[in-house]
Amino acid sequence: MIELDTTWLRAVRPDRRVGHAIEAHVSIGSTNDRARELLAQPGSDGLVVVADEQTAGRGRRGRSWHSPAGRGLAVSVVLQPRLAAADAWTLPLAVALAAADACEAGGLVRLKWPNDLIDERGRKLGGILIETTVEDDRLSGAIIGIGLNTDWTGAEVPAEIRHRSISLAELARLPVDRVVLLDRLLDALSTEVAMIERGESPLDRYRLRCATIGTTVRVATEGGVMMGLAVDVGDHGQLIVESDGRRHELSSGDVIELREDPGR
Ligand code: BTN
Repeated sequence: MIELDTTWLRAVRPDRRVGHAIEAHVSIGSTNDRARELLAQPGSDGLVVVADEQTAGRGRRGRSWHSPAGRGLAVSVVLQPRLAAADAWTLPLAVALAAADACEAGGLVRLKWPNDLIDERGRKLGGILIETTVEDDRLSGAIIGIGLNTDWTGAEVPAEIRHRSISLAELARLPVDRVVLLDRLLDALSTEVAMIERGESPLDRYRLRCATIGTTVRVATEGGVMMGLAVDVGDHGQLIVESDGRRHELSSGDVIELREDPGR
């Protein structure tokens, strides 16, 4: 039997595009998988799935996403975007900006390309996994999965990622009210989605928030590893890296791993 958690329902706003209804689980495999099931249902645009615990949370590129029960925000939004497939690149940028805005209360939040949320020292606060479907030349559906480290303490984080992760509570030195955070996130997503659907590009604001620009990076792709200087985010959201006098344009799909290179 599915156990639902009514605490989260305080973040429901019936007149808001994203978050007019929330399905809140105590425990679920992956909120993205549940949101994908809901996408097929009529009127699912703007539905939100949230869970206290995910037992099979997924990250980008097939990685898993772990968060101790009750210590993170795991949320997925079902969206039927009014976007041409050619403008699909704007969605991850808009979502990253919305998530960064929602998290900013406790300290400066920046973006590691393409859409990790990090603090000023590059420690990861959260990540985004967007899965889309395209029909003809339209983006027919999107599942926007956002995982935020809300109340972790260092000791609860797996040893291998402890030095490069931080929670919002640690950043702000204050406990996080996850329902308030979810409400802010859904507000920010509603605003950003409306902007890109009106044709307003998120690019300039994304560039300002992007901590990757100006850093030397180590980029792993299917084709091999490259060191270079990240000089810009291009007109379609691609990362532009200069290496050995050549300019490389990388899409998020090309990049297996992107690290700031401490050796340079
Ligand atoms: C990443 O940094 O690799 C992206 C992590 C995305 C995790 C979120 S948590 C909510 C949603 N459900 C999932 O299974 N994954 C996303």
